[in-house]
Amino acid sequence: MKQGKATAVASPNMALVKYWGKRNDKLILPYNSSLSMTLGGFATKTTVEFGDYNNDTIIINDEQLKKDEKDIVGHLERIRHMAGIKEKAKVVSESNFPISSGLASSASGLAALTLAATRAAGLTMNERELTILTRLGSGSACRSICEGFVIWHKGERNNGSDSYAETVAKKNHWKDFTMITAVISEAKKKIGSRAGMAQSVATCPFYKNWIKSSEEDLSIIKKGILEKNFTAVGSCAENNCLKMHSVMMTTKPPLIYWLPATLDIIRNVIIWRDEGLESYFTIDAGQHVNVICLDRDAKKMERSLQEISDVTKTTISKPGDGAKIVNDNLF
Ligand code: PMV
Repeated sequence: MKQGKATAVASPNMALVKYWGKRNDKLILPYNSSLSMTLGGFATKTTVEFGDYNNDTIIINDEQLKKDEKDIVGHLERIRHMAGIKEKAKVVSESNFPISSGLASSASGLAALTLAATRAAGLTMNERELTILTRLGSGSACRSICEGFVIWHKGERNNGSDSYAETVAKKNHWKDFTMITAVISEAKKKIGSRAGMAQSVATCPFYKNWIKSSEEDLSIIKKGILEKNFTAVGSCAENNCLKMHSVMMTTKPPLIYWLPATLDIIRNVIIWRDEGLESYFTIDAGQHVNVICLDRDAKKMERSLQEISDVTKTTISKPGDGAKIVNDNLF
C-alpha cells in the first residue's frame, strides 16, 4: 500500500436527551435514541498515517499510550479490515481543551480518529456511514461526527445498519443557545459509563420507563429546537437528565455520580430561574454540571457559577461544526 496520511478535527458533544443502556453490547446499539449539541470552540485534532510501522503508536496530548490501548487499536483494526490493508498506524492527537475540563474528550477523539483513519486508509465514506463506524468505537461519539444539534437514531435492525447519527438543525440555526460547563473537582474515580449502563439495564426497576420516557423527550426537544423554544428544550433536557440520574441511583449497586457541589449548582440554577434568569442543567455520568442558557445571560451565569465553591473551571460553548478533514498534519 502507498503510505496514507490524513488529519481530522472533531468536537465533543453534550446530550440533551441521554443515552444510557445498550440492547447490543458488541455492536453498541442503544435502547433509546438520543439528541445532543456538538460543542463549538472545542476540538480534537488527529493525524493518522498507515505505513511501515512495527506497531500501532498512539500519542495523545504529547503522551505515548501503552500498547494495550484496546479501544483505539481495536478501532484501527476495524478500519484496516474494511480497507483491506495490514499496515500499522501512527496516531497523534491533540485537544484544545484539557481532559479535566468536564467535556467528553473520548467523543471528539473517536470521531476525529474515525474520519482521519478512514481517509488515510483510502476509504470514502458518507456521513451516515462514518457515524455508524464511530459508534462501533464509542457509542455517544457517533454524534460528534455531525454539526449542530444531532440525533443518534437507536435503529431497529440487529446488524446496526440503521443506528446512525444525523444533524437535525445546523449550528447557525440557533446561535443564542449556550452551554456552560462547570467543572467540579473530584477525589475519587467514577465508574465508567460502559460498566455503569450495563448494571442499570440489568438491575434498575425503572429501566423500561426510562426508555419510554426518553423517546417522548426526544420528540419534545427536537420540535423545541426546530421552533427555537428555549423553555421547552431546557426544561425537557433537565428533566431527562434527572430521570437518567434516577435510573443510575436506583441501579444495584447504586451509581451516584454527584458531589455536594453538583447539588449546589442544581439548587442555584432553580433559584436563579425562579428569579428570572432562565437556565437549566444537564449532567452526564460524572459530577460536572452543564448549564443551558441563552447568549444574553451567559456571562452573568458564568460569573455566578464561578462563585460556587469547588467549581474549578467554567467553559462556554455554542452549537459547533461536525468532524472535518483539515490540511495541517500534526507530524
Ligand atoms: O458513549 P459513552 O459510553 O461514553 O456513554 C455516554 C453516556 C452519557 O454521557 C451519560 C450520555 C450521553 O448520551 O452522552
